[in-house]
Parts: sequence; structure tokens; C-alpha cells
Amino acid sequence: MAKMDFSADFLWGTATASYQVEGAAYEGGRGPCIWDTFSRRPGAVYAGENGNVACDQYHRYPEDIALMAELGFKSYRFSIAWPRIIPEGRGKVNPEGIAYYRRLCEELRKNGIHTCATIYHWDLPQPLQDEGGWTNRNITGAFKEYANVCYKELGDLVDMWITINEPFCVAYLGYLWGVHAPGERDQKKAMAAVHNVNMAHGIAVSEYRKTGLKAPIGITWNPNTPRAATSREEDKKAALISRAFNTEIFIFPCLGKGYPEHITKNFPDVIPLKEGDLEIIAQPIDFIGVNFYTESPEAADEKAPYKYTSKPSWQDTTAMGWPITPAGLERQLLWLTEISKGAFGKAEIPLYITENGCACDDIVTPAGRIHDKERIKYLQKHLAVCADVIKKGVPLKGYYVWSLLDNFEWAYGYAKRFGIIHVDFKTLKRTPKDSAYFLRDTIAGFADI
Ligand code: FCB
Repeated sequence: MAKMDFSADFLWGTATASYQVEGAAYEGGRGPCIWDTFSRRPGAVYAGENGNVACDQYHRYPEDIALMAELGFKSYRFSIAWPRIIPEGRGKVNPEGIAYYRRLCEELRKNGIHTCATIYHWDLPQPLQDEGGWTNRNITGAFKEYANVCYKELGDLVDMWITINEPFCVAYLGYLWGVHAPGERDQKKAMAAVHNVNMAHGIAVSEYRKTGLKAPIGITWNPNTPRAATSREEDKKAALISRAFNTEIFIFPCLGKGYPEHITKNFPDVIPLKEGDLEIIAQPIDFIGVNFYTESPEAADEKAPYKYTSKPSWQDTTAMGWPITPAGLERQLLWLTEISKGAFGKAEIPLYITENGCACDDIVTPAGRIHDKERIKYLQKHLAVCADVIKKGVPLKGYYVWSLLDNFEWAYGYAKRFGIIHVDFKTLKRTPKDSAYFLRDTIAGFADI
């Protein structure tokens, strides 16, 4: 297999998100969030499950951090739960919430682990959703307030900030497809959410610059950069339109390129843009976070709302049914490098893979081991791409595996396991899987044995 050389300062990390791992949903002064509400809706989440207990990281973080340290990870990407910090979404700050993240960061630092905090990974305070959530432009003011509290209270302990995780999922899964909280299906609302999420990101970055804090700040996208299903011109165009709607609509304005032409020309009124907004969104960022799982083939479809549709793939799939497409990661990283070159007058913007991994049907052997060979193969293939694109000039500086632990996989509940550490959800016992040992060896420089 390909030799995988990574520089000594390559940032190896694991990633999680508050609602998916913390539990303690009704403890520590945490307010209600949209996932508490959505998971109560019949049929919304597999088997009616929720994040009330999840992995109980709220209480078990020292054990999780000890495991990370033992495996050699250098960074932990976690998210801050907005309803723990400001339970009503606006106004009163909850000292217990602040104290929790301070304890978490201090424990990470004590173990020599760098702290990467995502400000928003989907657990919106319910009172804000009651005002329309991401569809209401006023949310940007609430986000500004919340981000400032994070900077002020945690700024001395955070080594890297991510404003928002996957704006695509916030806007489209939440407000267009209705498969994530708050579960709405409305094209107009989804487009308002797109714009408000972009605005919130820009505002959070410009507020950050006023604090004098020096840790890098960026955003995490899940760029969908599909390939054309065939070489027919209409399919090539369909792939471009799909990329415009799913990806460029988020990335381009943040990089100072405005909304993509495919949208402004062909669907001129979909974005509720006001004068001055593009300047607010286009704040210089220090890095780009990329979440990658799969790539899809797209074809023209006159009947579809935006005239494109996804076609079946031939590749093997993960337990999510997602095709395994490492070549798509290569295409995507090259494309991102190209489009971000020169943004904000910088020669290049560093990239981090802030999530990559797969769900497998893991089996615990009678001896208590998890030989997750399929996950190891998936990781090997994607890491080989990472090593290779660095040689081709992609400024890739780090890789976070999704996920540290099996956890609450949103609408799939606990049915899909993405962890490199197995969690028995009855006892909450953690057991590193073989993939955790594979990553340990990779980090230690023995990936190709
Ligand atoms: C990403 C999410 C993350 C996790 C993975 C599997 O879209 O950011 O929380 O659920 O998918």
C-alpha cells in the first residue's frame, strides 16, 4: 500500500459534537435544544432515541481524554452546546455550562492535547427556534452574543475555533429535507437559513478579531463536489449546478466571491440578500475545515427543483449505505485548494479534515475485541489520499477522525456506529476498536506496516 508520510506537526485528532456525546441533557442548567424537541417527534429518530444520556461524556470526559492521550492523539475537536452556555438562547449566561467546558479544556491541556472548539454543531436553543430559528435573520444577533461569551469565557483555553459545523446540514437537512431538527420542509425557509448561517459565521469571525485572541478561527464545511454521472454536457452542467447549490452557496460568499453565478443568474431571488451582507460574510479566516464521507454522481433531471439528481454508484458502501469514494476526497481537496488560493490576499488557506470516518456493523468478540477491518480499510484509503495530495501542494495540516466514540448519530439514533472506540450503551463502557490501534500506529509513524 501507499507509504504514508506525515510531517511531525501534522495535527492528528478525533472529533465529536456536544449533542451526540455529552448526555446530561437536563443537568448543569442546560436549556432545551431543537434536538430534544425533534427526537420526541414520532418517527423522527430511529427507535425514538435521543441524546439524554448519549455517551455521558459530560461526566466521563476524564476517561475519554485518557484514552485519547493513550492513543497518541494531539487534538480534540468538540463542540460547545449553546443551551449550556445561554440556556434561553439570549441573555442570561449559565456559569455551570462555562465551568464544564473549562474543566474539559483544562483536562485536555493537562494531557498535552490541543483544544479545537466548534461553536455551533446543531443544538440550537429551542427558544430561538420558536422565533423561526435559522430562518429568522435576528438569529445572527443571538449568535453574536453567544460567540462573544465563548471567546470571553473560554478564549484562554481554546487553541482553534470553528464557527459553524456544516452549514449545508443546518440549512438543508433542517429546513429543506426535514430529516434533522427542526424538521421543516420549505424551500424558501431553507434559502433564508443558508444566508443567515453564512451571516452568523461572518459576524462571529469579525467579533473574534476584536477580542485580540490569537488562536486560529475558521469554519467547517462538508463540500459536496459531485462528479458528473456521464460525459454528456447536460450531466456535466448538472454536477456544476449541484455543486453551486450544495457547496459554493456556502463557501463562495465566505471566501469573498459572492454567491455563485449559477444561482444568481438562474435563480436570482432565492437568497434574501441585503446590501452590505456580502461584506459581513466575507471575513478573513485562518483555515478551512473539511468534512468528507462520500461523493456522488449527478445527472440532469428536468423535473427536479434545481434540475439535477443523484445517480446510483458502483462502489462498496459503508453501513450508512454511503459509497466509499477516496478518489472523491482527492478531487475535493484539489478543488478547494484551487478555489481558496488568493482569498483575502493570502497565498493559500490551510485545510484541515475536521471529520472523516465510517459507520460499520461492528461486532464485539467473546474476548471483548472489535476487529473493525472495514473501518481500517476506509481510513487507510482516505489517509493515503491525504498523504498524496500534500505532495501535490494541498496545504492540508491535520486530520480528525469521526468519531472518538460511537455516539448519537442524529436521525439514526444509536444504530450507526462511527467510533474508533466502541461504546456499550447499556453500561457506557468504552473499548478501543482495532481502528483506534491502527490510528495510534499511524500517528506514531508506523502506518505502512
Ligand atoms: C456529519 C456530522 C457529524 C456526524 C457525521 C457522521 O455530517 O457533522 O455530526 O454525524 O456526519
